[in-house]
Amino acid sequence: MSSAPAQSLVAVPFLSEAPDLVAATLEEARAHPAVGLVLGIHGDDGTVNAAVGELVGGSHGIDLVPQRRIGSFRPGKGDAINTGFRFFLDETGFQRLHFYDADIRSFDRSWIERAESALDKGFQAVRHFYPRSPTDGMITWMVTRPGFGLLWPESVLPWIEQPMSGEVAFERDSVAVLTSDPVVVAQSDWGIDTAITHRSVAHGLSIYETFAPQGKDHQLYGSLEELRTMLLECLHTLQRLRGASAPRPIRHFAESAGSDEAPAAIQRIAYDVDATRALALQPWSPDQLELLHQHFDQDLKDLHAATWLAVLGVLLEKFDASSPDWQEVAFRLWMRRVLTYSEAIEGLTYTEAMSQLRALVHRAATR
Ligand code: LAC
Repeated sequence: MSSAPAQSLVAVPFLSEAPDLVAATLEEARAHPAVGLVLGIHGDDGTVNAAVGELVGGSHGIDLVPQRRIGSFRPGKGDAINTGFRFFLDETGFQRLHFYDADIRSFDRSWIERAESALDKGFQAVRHFYPRSPTDGMITWMVTRPGFGLLWPESVLPWIEQPMSGEVAFERDSVAVLTSDPVVVAQSDWGIDTAITHRSVAHGLSIYETFAPQGKDHQLYGSLEELRTMLLECLHTLQRLRGASAPRPIRHFAESAGSDEAPAAIQRIAYDVDATRALALQPWSPDQLELLHQHFDQDLKDLHAATWLAVLGVLLEKFDASSPDWQEVAFRLWMRRVLTYSEAIEGLTYTEAMSQLRALVHRAATR
């Protein structure tokens, strides 16, 4: 462990996570010797905010600040991240900024430790990745990574392990670069992580991906309905990124995930399959049917890999984020894809299931 003076700010955005978990994360980060200040960036859930304030209120070295309105889309996680960026640059002189989501039950100082050592090696950005259930990360695996593969096959983007990771760290200069990018500043919603990944590569920042073997053991889902807004915002973000400057070749290192064993808690099914199937199979409205006829000539009943990539290609071109019918079409097609995949991996091992996901990204990037 380094004995350097505290040079890092740790920021933890939270909204409605369990207050004791949020407080434990803030305290754990505060205890690390490299950390000079911990910033809890809160949303507008008064009950959660009061409870967290109660738990950490007197703690030296922990500040709680409200998420500011900075971007131009739905006010959400992106505003919280941009609030952290601004606070770091404007209110502090720290050299490094870390972000951790507030729902990591396995959070401990080793996360900070790994990021600090990667920055010590001279990398400008660090991204954490970790084992996940083969049915978790269904936006990452079905949309973001294959979308990066279809749009920027020659870049490192499809190969970034967790482009939507909320666990990242940056050198001060990298924060200045990202906050001067209008695409990042505008992305106030769930698209922020995807935007930061893309813009980091577009600005040529070197990236180190560090592996957290214990996994994140975070909250999983009911039906995929819970991910609807995130899905639509991430898809829209990919479309927006097409208009921004292109990715560049960068210095990039990803640690090996080592053994293929994932902690048992991580291997469970991450969402409610029956509830999701009921949603996905609801009848289409006449206007939705019209959109389907107009834009898709694939057989949409069974969304195996090749069909899904063709469908995703159409969505990246034609999806209109402001149209409720397009939202429903995109959401249901994605749910159908996730269901088709979930059925296909029944009975497979963790390793076999994960390799199907990797194969989809590979296929997208080599089409
Ligand atoms: C993802 C979200 C669901 O990574 O966490 O796809």
